[in-house]
Amino acid sequence: MVAEGRAEGDPAYGEYLANECTACHPPDVTDGVIPPLWLLPTDYFIDALRAYRSGERENPVMQAVARALGDEEIESLAAYFADLREQKGGS
Ligand code: HEC
Repeated sequence: MVAEGRAEGDPAYGEYLANECTACHPPDVTDGVIPPLWLLPTDYFIDALRAYRSGERENPVMQAVARALGDEEIESLAAYFADLREQKGGS
């Protein structure tokens, strides 16, 4: 389970998994439509991936990405991006 604002996954595993994501998601804020993933609050990030996985959020690309991820993968990605956000001086 996920503690408030904090993921319980393994950030090292998350970093490994994130290689796939950064093919599309930029490392920094741009004026494009795809957000850098570290910018998203942890709870929002986890909810968004679960919603793509369940089909509640309709984006074919992200549905395919999310359906390949288990809860452990999602939480590890969330932990990695939360660390990245701290490094970048966010909250
Ligand atoms: C092939 C390109 C592509 C890849 C690979 C990809 N994404 Fe995405 N992602 C998108 C697009 C396009 C959107 C915007 C979709 C929408 O409008 O719903 C998005 C949206 C998201 C959102 C919601 C953002 C928001 O502001 O609500 C999350 C979270 C997300 N992606 C996570 C990931 C993760 C985690 C990975 C890697 C496991 C990943 N994505 C890989 C293209 C990609």
